[in-house]
Order: sequence, then C-alpha cells, then structure tokens
Amino acid sequence: MTVTTQQLIQWKQQGRLIVALTAWDYAIAKLLDEAGVDLILVGDSLAMVALGMETTLPLTLDEIIHHAKAVRRGVKRALLVVDMPFMTYQESPQQAMRSAGRILKETGAQAVKLEGGYATIIQVISQLVQAGIPVMGHVGLTPQSVHQMGYRQQGKTKESAERIFAEALAIEQAGAFAVVLEHIPSELAKQISQQLTIPTIGIGAGAYCDGQVLVTADLLGLTERQPPFAKSYLNLREIILSAVKEYSLEVRERQFPP
Ligand code: KIV
Repeated sequence: MTVTTQQLIQWKQQGRLIVALTAWDYAIAKLLDEAGVDLILVGDSLAMVALGMETTLPLTLDEIIHHAKAVRRGVKRALLVVDMPFMTYQESPQQAMRSAGRILKETGAQAVKLEGGYATIIQVISQLVQAGIPVMGHVGLTPQSVHQMGYRQQGKTKESAERIFAEALAIEQAGAFAVVLEHIPSELAKQISQQLTIPTIGIGAGAYCDGQVLVTADLLGLTERQPPFAKSYLNLREIILSAVKEYSLEVRERQFPP
C-alpha cells in the first residue's frame, strides 16, 4: 500500500514516527523504498550532492523534474515529494501553480515542498492546496535563502523563535500536510510539534519532531562536507575510493580481467 498524506497525519496522532530521506536517482530511490522509508523527497539538495553546484539556487524546474522521474520509477510504497526549486514559486501563486502542476503531471509525485512562511508563501500554499496539490512546508534554516541567512541555526533569539513558530502555524492553517523544521533549537521544534496537528519532519531540530529526514548522501558518507547535525551511517566515499583503486591496480597489473 502506498503511503498517503492522510496516513502521515494519522501516524502523528498514533505517535508513530515518520522516516524520511532524500533521493536523486532510480537506484537510490529503489533501495530506500525497499528498506521501508515512509517519505522520499527529491530535495533540491540534489543540486549540491548530485550535480556539483555550490548552492541549491541554480537548480531549474526541468532539472528536478528529470531526476524526479527517475526516482518515481524506483518508488512503489513511499510518499514521493518533490522540492520546488528557487524562483519557481516565489513570484506569485500563478507561477507556483504552473510549476507544481508540471511537477505532479510530469513526474507522478504525490506532493511538492516549498520553503518559507511569509505572507506570499502562505498564499501560495493555500492556492496550491485548493487546487488539489498537497504541500509540505519548510521553515527554520531555508537553504534557498542562503545569501540572507547563511547555513546558521535559526530560532535562537526570542524574536526569531516566535517568527518560526508563527510561520509553522500559518503553514498548517494554509492546508499543508506536513512541515520540515530545519536547524532550529530542539525546544522550539518540540513546542511547534506539540502545537501542530500536521507532522513536523526534523533535520537538525532535535528528537521531538514527528519524523526525521536526512540528505541520503550524508547518511551514506558520500559527501565531503556535512552539516553539523547530519549523521553518516557508513563511509561510502572510502569504500568507493578503495574499490576503484583496487580495480585500477588490477587493470594496470593485468590481474583483471583474469
Ligand atoms: O533539499 C533537501 O534535501 C531538503 C531536506 C534537507 C529537507 O530540503
């Protein structure tokens, strides 16, 4: 059975924690789905982890759609969510509708995610939801605003914490089915999670969220630099380097092919 947005909300009510990870191609997506991950996000972090870009900003709608189509082919059970790239929704609800419409039609994903909680974004979420497009919000550290906020933890001052709290509430009221809380203090994430009826999915936001998400390249140890809150469960860089070096040696010494 495919995971639905309604199921995520039920799981929150039941206290069942949600497991989410990012994917950028067919092979990774298929493995995550087979392992029983509940929500697979084609995050715009693919710009950095799979396309070698410095930030997520240059990623285009065509590029994320291309990757999301490949991910879709590997996912049978998980809820598939696709990030809306920078400047494909910020301009107006009409622009957002066109971009999200393309994502759902062309990739077969069930939902989109977008960053921020200021007034225009709340309007965008509300109109997408009214058009039948499920939306996941994203507040706290929002990497598409890197030139304003850097990659620093957000919500540390009373004013910033209150703003993030209000944004999360507004996102729920606009009809989103979940919200990502990125790099904010654990206590703030706990208060938001207690207040909202939709699930919070944390990344660098402590243990009290209703689910957790990681960038899969960080989990696998594929990335050279990782955020302080990420955890690598294996060092795939070293494993790949050593395998490729062994192969190279065997080719040069005529040991492979045997
Ligand atoms: O793009 C991404 O990978 C994300 C996650 C960090 C939530 O937005």
